[in-house]
Amino acid sequence: MEIIIQPDSRAASALAARIIARLVREKPHAVLGFATGNTPIETYKNLIDLHRREKLDFGDITAFNLDEYVGLDPAHPASYHAYMRANLFDRINIDPEKINIPSGLASDIPISCQHYEDLIRTDGGIDLQILGIGTDGHIGFNEPSSSLSSRTRIKTLTDRTRKDNAAFFGGENNVPRHVITMGLGTIMDCRMCLLLAFGRKKARAVAEAVEGPVTAMVPASILQMHPRAVFLLDEDAASGFKRAEYYRWVYDNKPDWQKY
Ligand code: PGA
Repeated sequence: MEIIIQPDSRAASALAARIIARLVREKPHAVLGFATGNTPIETYKNLIDLHRREKLDFGDITAFNLDEYVGLDPAHPASYHAYMRANLFDRINIDPEKINIPSGLASDIPISCQHYEDLIRTDGGIDLQILGIGTDGHIGFNEPSSSLSSRTRIKTLTDRTRKDNAAFFGGENNVPRHVITMGLGTIMDCRMCLLLAFGRKKARAVAEAVEGPVTAMVPASILQMHPRAVFLLDEDAASGFKRAEYYRWVYDNKPDWQKY
């Protein structure tokens, strides 16, 4: 794992966008995995900026999103379809045909999940998956107790996650209970995972994911088994680490060829 601690979320988001932009420049047909929530919004703003100012070209990339709420129409303002359109897709030159987001309206959920897995495979696998982390340690919507080798499937949200997402729905009671999410096995197949976490409320989940045991009770801890997982954090999200000074030293002393 690579742990990068930046002074604040602005600097971390700018670096995240640089890492993504570099991949898109090197591999115009890259397959990118996108995440939703508050955390990646600033990164997406930076990508939109790079598209406008430096003509960063998203015309050939393919996108796969991590998850979607069951029962929400793509037009619903709190759906992740709507989120992605508003925060990124409508503001860059991505080909709408190459956007993939799990369907919250599928009549046969297991078949639709299998189809999603098949699409990822047919497109050659995900080159870089952006991840947030829940206060309960989830990635995607893989809540604690998720199988560490799970694939795309339906999950039931914990009360804590429903509370965390209540603001998007005007109250906890309106947050759907079920979601479709890529599994932990699906995420582990991505060639690179870039996890972003900002703020003190994420410090405990981040510390447990990085420095605790690998356990289904902290789903993000499976990234300890990933060959290329990067945790990109602000100071607050890094405040629970026991070995922060070591991670800082490693990052500050990277050889030039390893720098982003
Ligand atoms: P957040 O959500 O970015 O809104 O904090 C992260 C997550 O639940 O994965």
